[in-house]
Amino acid sequence: MTNEQSSHETNVENENTLTNRQGHPVTNNQNIRTVGNRGPATLENYDFIEKISHFDRERVPERVVHARGAGAHGYFETYGTAGDEPVSKYTRAKLFQEKGKQTPVFVRFSSVIHGGHSPETLRDPRGFAVKFYTEDGNWDLVGNNLKIFFIRDAIKFPDMIHAFKPDPITNIQDSQRFFDFCASSPETFHMVTFVYSPWGIPANYRMMQGSGVNTYKWVNNDGVAVLVKYHWEPKQGIKNLTMKEASEIQATNFNHATQDLYEAIERGEYPEWELLVQIMSDDEHPELDFDPLDDTKLWPEDQFPWLPVGKMILNRNPEDYFTEVEQAAFGTGVLVDGLDFSDDKMLQGRTFSYSDTQRHRVGANYLQLPINAPKKRVATNQSGGQMQYKVDRAPGQNPHINYEPSILGGLKEAEQVGKEYTPQIEGKLVRQSIDRQSNTKQAGETYRRFEQWEKDELLANLISDLSTCDQRIQEKMIALAEEADDEYGKRLREGLAHASKEGSNQKPLGSRGGDKAPEKAIEKGH
Ligand code: HEM
Repeated sequence: MTNEQSSHETNVENENTLTNRQGHPVTNNQNIRTVGNRGPATLENYDFIEKISHFDRERVPERVVHARGAGAHGYFETYGTAGDEPVSKYTRAKLFQEKGKQTPVFVRFSSVIHGGHSPETLRDPRGFAVKFYTEDGNWDLVGNNLKIFFIRDAIKFPDMIHAFKPDPITNIQDSQRFFDFCASSPETFHMVTFVYSPWGIPANYRMMQGSGVNTYKWVNNDGVAVLVKYHWEPKQGIKNLTMKEASEIQATNFNHATQDLYEAIERGEYPEWELLVQIMSDDEHPELDFDPLDDTKLWPEDQFPWLPVGKMILNRNPEDYFTEVEQAAFGTGVLVDGLDFSDDKMLQGRTFSYSDTQRHRVGANYLQLPINAPKKRVATNQSGGQMQYKVDRAPGQNPHINYEPSILGGLKEAEQVGKEYTPQIEGKLVRQSIDRQSNTKQAGETYRRFEQWEKDELLANLISDLSTCDQRIQEKMIALAEEADDEYGKRLREGLAHASKEGSNQKPLGSRGGDKAPEKAIEKGH
């Protein structure tokens, strides 16, 4: 074959021909263009510069929390009822109304504290975020596996995350910083009790519960609201790990939860969760010893039963991790008609935070990406900004009228369906914590509900990490445990006294790391 023939053949373009993003066929993907075959390189080598400079930009910033995750597509099917009642008694949200109605969903599971490639065995709450592509537009239910949270006021979130993330100097996660924050914020004690028990290491994503955690509202056709909490119950059952089991998995596999989800779906074993709600009338409930807007509290099941409202099945893996999972953007502000916010201060703070971070992390037009865009029509007058690739124009819309109102045409406001919900709000503007804090009572109840092995694990894990902490921090944590439950407090006090007799692990702040016994050398996410 002559040189002429060969270059002619490679120029024949077919459907498998490599091109650059300008559509030019790439004839040589092995060698950069140089002066002679030993260099130097020339700067007008467009293909090379395009390829390498795109590579240089392959990452977007990680999520500031929940960086490590896995996702899947599926659908939600409604029962049309909430327990024994028609669901319309409580909400007019269309996706819940008609029994058997299916709504497509995308779900992202995650761990919270560590980076995008951290082991999935770490002690940490797990994220459980669901995007429902409803006929009325998107609804995001951005929850966790556990039903409560560490704090009840959004202003504390950045401090909490700083304390839980690695030390700013050593870049090592430090139990002392974690417990320093928790001992100084007693509302965290209920969540600490869950997270240090086996419930802090779910066996995988398929075998864990989910919860919206914060209190939301449902609004019916008469404009009447109720308070609501959402829970996901796995049909696969619930499984949590001991520290030893997690260490064994971590020794050989950093990705076991992602792998488990992906492979189950590929095998056709589609994971399923039932969605249940708890409902309260929309008032302060002075008869309760906690505030219904306090996300550190469980709503007692005997008073507020779990009412099944539908089920979710995940049956399709993403085609591309970055496009779908990494660029997915969930937020608590993303609600549809019939669903509303409560005055839960965490929920209100979160609702600003998500779209704010996503404009930074993914870009101003993140809602135009297929994974984030609703599956119904979008018609706005928004335009411009980085990476806009289409205009949200209605078919036949006069392109000159990109404003509203207008006599000449353009988009018009929708009509209000159902009676508008217009709560009356009055009071002094203050910076005050809520009354009825009851920081330790439910932690005691949770401790007493644990099985013996769960109590033993909780205590062993707490003693292991707290024994490395300053004694003042230990004393505060013991006091909280004693307040919660006599046995819990006694076991923690005795365990720490014993650990200190064995030889104190206490170190000044910042000097720890790399000095733990092998079984404890596993970093603990929280
Ligand atoms: C992710 C803020 C509390 C569940 C995030 C992200 C931010 C954030 C900035 C990253 C989002 C992104 O880059 O797309 C906050 C703030 C909170 C708070 C300010 C408190 C005031 C909570 C609570 C829960 C939760 C209580 C559980 C109900 C999640 C989940 C994700 C997430 C599941 C990951 C979503 C995904 O998979 O993309 N949060 N968060 N957060 N947060 Fe929160």
